[in-house]
Amino acid sequence: MWDALWINANLATMDGDTGYGAIEDGAIAVADGQIAWVGPRADLPGAPDTLAREVQDAGGRWVTPGLVDCHTHLVYGGNRSREFALRLDGASYEEIARAGGGIVSTVAATRAADQEILLRDARRRLAALQAEGVTTVEIKSGYGLDAETECRMLRVAGLLQDTGIRVRRTYLGAHATPPEYKGDAEGYIDQVCDHVLPQVADAGLADAVDGFLERIAFTSAQITRVFEAAHRHGLAVKLHADQLTDGDGAALAAEYRALSADHLEYTSENGVKAMAQAATVAVLLPGAFYTLRETRLPPIDALRRHGVPMAVATDSNPGSAPVTSLLLMLNMACTLFRLTTAEALTGVTRNAAQALGLQDVCGRLAAGLAADFVLWDIDDPAELCYRIGWNPRAMSVVGGKPLFPSDG
Ligand code: NIG
Ligand code: FE
Repeated sequence: MWDALWINANLATMDGDTGYGAIEDGAIAVADGQIAWVGPRADLPGAPDTLAREVQDAGGRWVTPGLVDCHTHLVYGGNRSREFALRLDGASYEEIARAGGGIVSTVAATRAADQEILLRDARRRLAALQAEGVTTVEIKSGYGLDAETECRMLRVAGLLQDTGIRVRRTYLGAHATPPEYKGDAEGYIDQVCDHVLPQVADAGLADAVDGFLERIAFTSAQITRVFEAAHRHGLAVKLHADQLTDGDGAALAAEYRALSADHLEYTSENGVKAMAQAATVAVLLPGAFYTLRETRLPPIDALRRHGVPMAVATDSNPGSAPVTSLLLMLNMACTLFRLTTAEALTGVTRNAAQALGLQDVCGRLAAGLAADFVLWDIDDPAELCYRIGWNPRAMSVVGGKPLFPSDG
């Protein structure tokens, strides 16, 4: 007998070849925290109350997989509202970074923040994501840049699992050169590869390793060294690639079989082809594009033509994307990048799970996957993309259980 059977639901399973994989008047059976059965109610092998200990009525609502935010920098100290004001005065993101602002200023604030403060602030941001149906989140380090603070950030990210949300952690040591290595990026990369990354890996603090390949960050040769070190320690890689310039980042990510290459505004068709061959997911970050008032669009048509899976994420961070709404990113992905509503929704479910190597764990409503799903008060799945500043979530279920504390 199943533990629970949800009936009277319209399902956007995100599990077909196209569209939402919609099943009207569907049912989901849950056993041991997993989806045991999913399909049209009419195909159930008996009367609901003979099949499960508990029958739950979804009230005719739409149900999607739990949303997956596959690229965030949710743990950090301070904020950068002053930098926002400088940008309004005409300074560019790059100019601010070169003048010692940007990422490096958040590094100072993060080093100064103890675990309790980092945890308190990250909890508030995570609560905002959770309230909109996020049940899995990726969190990167990268604002510590020394062993102690990077490990503190990753530990805080791990502690956030007490919310019930599934957290994947990524070590982003190669985010910027810290002040104590100013002018010696090579020396800093030595430290990352020989000391910090091995320490993070040995302590089991990360699932993957990320880097920032950009003329204001690290070169392809430096990122290559980080990727080699990651692979030596059995960790998958990801890359902030081609965000401000074309640095052949997508191709480098593909060469190392990266789970994802992210941003991609300047990626060339060759980069896209390499990603297709390596099954590297393209993570699109419309909140950073919007905040930095970028005008160059990611190569959406080429990604489509070559069959590269596209994901959409918040990039939640204090600089380029002070964003805590994945629903808003759905809207921006459609309006700014011209994704279809089905592509955008696939981007925060199925493809986002793949960007974290979790395609067999979550991201679809399918038997054998975790029972992570969200009930929405909407008439059509497209409504999740169409509205701006509107949260129609009724409840979230993670591993078969209502997601607390905001769900009762
Ligand atoms: O994903 N591109 C590099 N890293 C972040 C921005 C970090 C920051 O500005 O603090 C990003 O956009
Ligand atoms: Fe980022």
